[in-house]
Amino acid sequence: MTGKSGTPGSQSAIADPRDYVQDGAVLIGVSKSGHEPAAETLELSLANRHGLVTGATGTGKTVTLQVLAEGFSAAGVPVFAADIKGDLSGIAMTGTQAPKLVARAAEIGINNYGNAAFPTVFWDIFGDAGHPVRATVQEMGPLLLSRLMELTEPQEGVLNIAFRWAADEREAGDRNMTILDLKDLRSVIDEMGKRASEIRSKYGHVATSTVGVIQRRLLVLEEQAADKFFGEPALDIMDFIKTTPDGRGVVNILAAEKLMDTPRLYSTFLLWLLTELFEKLPEVGDLDKPKLVFLFDEAHLLFNEAPKAVLEQIERVTRLIRSKGVGVYYVTQSPADVPDRVSAQLGNRIQHALRAFTPKEQKAIRAAAQTFRSNPAIDTERAIQELKVGEALVSLLHGKGEPSMVERTLIRPPMSRVGPLTPEERASLVEADKANFSKYRQTLDRESAYERLQSRNTFGGQIKEKLSKFPNIFGFKK
Ligand SMILES: Nc1ncnc2c1ncn2[C@@H]1O[C@H](COP(=O)(O)OP(=O)(O)OP(=O)(O)O)[C@@H](O)[C@H]1O
Ligand SMILES: [Mg+2]
Repeated sequence: MTGKSGTPGSQSAIADPRDYVQDGAVLIGVSKSGHEPAAETLELSLANRHGLVTGATGTGKTVTLQVLAEGFSAAGVPVFAADIKGDLSGIAMTGTQAPKLVARAAEIGINNYGNAAFPTVFWDIFGDAGHPVRATVQEMGPLLLSRLMELTEPQEGVLNIAFRWAADEREAGDRNMTILDLKDLRSVIDEMGKRASEIRSKYGHVATSTVGVIQRRLLVLEEQAADKFFGEPALDIMDFIKTTPDGRGVVNILAAEKLMDTPRLYSTFLLWLLTELFEKLPEVGDLDKPKLVFLFDEAHLLFNEAPKAVLEQIERVTRLIRSKGVGVYYVTQSPADVPDRVSAQLGNRIQHALRAFTPKEQKAIRAAAQTFRSNPAIDTERAIQELKVGEALVSLLHGKGEPSMVERTLIRPPMSRVGPLTPEERASLVEADKANFSKYRQTLDRESAYERLQSRNTFGGQIKEKLSKFPNIFGFKK
């Protein structure tokens, strides 16, 4: 069957992506180090033991991610992926019989190489290139917010006080003293400055200068348009975990091109997402396939300069999220970008070429080579430097979870488009997704801390607050 017509080489030949899923495993590519070509497959039941995709620029990482996402989707596993350059978006469109891709298919023995489009949902923190993704400030919590704002420990202390104070006020009856957006956070922080002497004995010291610093950092966040991210309707994480009526996993693509200009927002947001998944999903033990696979591109941004508490959180979430049925695949240039304690948990490994110009890079290659289960037929260290584009050293978990011997593998060509969507194609897919469109398009601004403090800080409001301390006498409802 032939799809859209066009210039030679641009035709599509429609095929069923499920052809690449067999016996509970997904085809990644074909290795040839033995006498016979061997299929390199990722076992779905071990896909929650996480993975690592590495390689220098232009070596084929994004295409490998696309192949992984296609395989999972075909197997009915929803995927979440950050799209750094916009090129992963092509997964939403049927690919073409481009000569390069056909040649690769032939090289690895796929004779009937065909194309397909995959069910895709687009998300965007800024709301431009996908459905808006929002979280409330409260959900993000003081630890991640401090990281986002680059606060020092004493400054983080004040942020903690603000969160606790608001929580206590809610507890005491002022239910809408919620910190939903940056406007709310700003007014609660302000309030901490004003009430410094009153709250000192219960919560601790709040210096006016610290309040000033936090306010300025909030301004920076607003300038980075992070104010679009904080608020409601907040993302319901279950909206990522969807399958189509014919049983295919939805691929959720997060537009990250613009987000990458603010690396801290990017990494904090993704860490928040992981943490949310970890907290909201029930314990499920080992399943025959994951509930969701999370592809975390440019993962070094997560670890760079991360304070100890954040690193511990990453390590803990990575370790524990496995039993919630979520597989996390970190994608970065060099395996050395990932701290050992996280790296030790990444069982499925795909290493594209690395270049060694400096002694430091040579050392990184040696270290990368040592993480693989060695194969007597391959000089791993040398192979890493010789790999061609779209070729990788691959070691995947099998059986009871033991890694396969490392093999030089040609990654299969994707069935969907290699390269980005046009803005029009993208916009029409976003609009066509009616459920998410109507749920998330409009910002909601209900009464929260900002409005509460405004009303409490009027003259009448202040009297009312004082009187409310004697609710029994004056008959106030708290
Ligand atoms: N498995 C493959 N089969 C066929 N062609 C491939 C394959 N992998 C990569 N290529 C070709 O190589 C090009 C570059 O690959 P890709 O964009 O995945 O590199 P990358 O490592 O993500 O680069 P960057 O670091 O710049 O994002 C692709 O556009 C495609 O033409
Ligand atoms: Mg790429």
